[in-house]
Formats: sequence, C-alpha cells, structure tokens
Amino acid sequence: MKVLVIGGSKGIGKACTEMLLEQGAEVIVAARSNAEISHLPVEFLEMDVLADVSDIEDLGELNGLIYCPGSINLRPFNRLTEEDYLNDFQLNVIGATKCIKAALKGLKAGNGSVVLFSTVAVQQGMAFHASVAASKGALEGLTRSLAAEFAPSVRVNCIAPSLTDTPLAEALLNNDKKREASEQRHPLKRVGKPEDIASMAVHLVSENASWISGQVISIDGGMSRLR
Ligand SMILES: NC(=O)c1ccc[n+]([C@@H]2O[C@H](COP(=O)([O-])OP(=O)(O)OC[C@H]3O[C@@H](n4cnc5c(N)ncnc54)[C@H](OP(=O)(O)O)[C@@H]3O)[C@@H](O)[C@H]2O)c1
Repeated sequence: MKVLVIGGSKGIGKACTEMLLEQGAEVIVAARSNAEISHLPVEFLEMDVLADVSDIEDLGELNGLIYCPGSINLRPFNRLTEEDYLNDFQLNVIGATKCIKAALKGLKAGNGSVVLFSTVAVQQGMAFHASVAASKGALEGLTRSLAAEFAPSVRVNCIAPSLTDTPLAEALLNNDKKREASEQRHPLKRVGKPEDIASMAVHLVSENASWISGQVISIDGGMSRLR
C-alpha cells in the first residue's frame, strides 16, 4: 500500500504516518518541514500547499491521500475579517482541491482513497467558529461531490474531529484549567489523542473500507450527538 500524507509531519498526520508505517505501508509525506519525522523511513517532499504542489503529480500509483493541513481560527464574528475567511478557505478547501487534482492520476491508477478533515463545529453550532466552520462545511460538500464524481475508482471520505491534542490545538490546551474545562465539555470526559483520529483515517485508506465513500465520520468524544 502506498499512501501520500499531506501534513504527515505533526499532529494527526504524524500519527497517520506512524500507523501506516507500522502496517508496512510505503508513506510519502508532504509538508513545510520534517523536523519531527526526520527519524522515520518515509519519502519527504518539502511543499507548501498554498504554493506549487506539482511535486505530487508523478508519484505513480497511490492507494491513499490523507490531507491534514487545517486551521482553528476562533474569533467573535465581528472581529473576523474577509481575509480570515479567505485564508481559512485557501488552506482547508483550495489546498485540498489542488492536492487532489495533482494526485488524481495516481489515485485513479491505484484505486485510491482520499481522506479530508472537517470539524465537529460544522454539525454542532459553536460560538466563534464562523470562519473555520464555513470552510470545513465547504470541505464536507466537496467530500460528497467528489465521492460521487470519482466513484467507483476513487473513494472520498471526511473525518470531523473534536478538540484533539496536537500542535494546532496547543493554545486551547496549554494550561491545566483549559484542559480540564475541555475534557469536561466532552461526554466521554477527555479530549482526543492524535491516534483516536488517525486510526480512522488509516482504516479509510485501507482495503477494509473499500465499501465506504462520501461519508463524514464524527470522532468527537460524543460531542456532536450526546447530551
Ligand atoms: N486538533 C484539533 O483539535 C482539530 C479539531 C478539529 C479538526 N481538526 C482538523 O484536523 C486536521 C489535522 O489537524 P492537526 O491538529 O493534526 O494539525 P497540525 O497539528 O497543525 O498539523 C498539520 C500538519 O499539516 C502541515 N501543514 C500545515 N500547513 C501546511 C501548508 N501550508 N503546506 C503544507 N503542509 C502544511 C503541518 O506541517 P508543517 O507545519 O511542517 O507544514 C503538519 O504536518 C486539520 O485539518 C484540522 O483543521 C483538528
């Protein structure tokens, strides 16, 4: 199995990289830096998804593409600027579409599976999430649309996590009080670990998930469904 993990160098993506390697997969990681994974046996492509992504055009047959770059840009509505919305859209939606387009030939050749990341804040209304929820909502629409368009050769799914302990979420978990409050807000009384989310992403790119496409899967400690 050969999988391209865009943003496979930190957080959830790094956990995907490690799990895929454990399962014997060939892993290609594309990100801006590889400092945290330089010890791992992966092919590393230095790439900014906001710039040129043509390096991923000729990777041969691909069985999976996991797209991890994303934002948590939380502000009251009247402090969000047009630029905030555009920046979130560029990283979450345009970045993903550019990467899928660049890798599509390889994905079609490998009967591949694409995994995108939304957020719990699309299905569950949360204050201060207007910009990120708008972008991630678009990504959920993109997931279903591409899943229909690429079937049966390429599957496309999306995972919607709640707060997960990664570099991206550091500002929300950087002291005991914040961590405890976040844990208590979740019905399962803890925040996510990168492995909680990565294990689903790795499942979705595997043959075991070969009849799953067009889904948005919540992994959120019960946040989106339980009182
Ligand atoms: N953590 C949470 O609480 C949470 C909650 C809901 C949804 N999510 C979503 O889950 C996904 C993964 O989140 P995470 O917490 O694992 O994020 P993270 O800790 O920020 O890791 C993101 C990865 O993407 C890479 N990346 C970021 N910007 C990039 C760019 N412009 N070009 C290329 N690579 C880039 C990073 O590496 P470099 O910096 O080296 O480029 C890193 O490997 C995101 O889409 C996020 O929105 C996360």
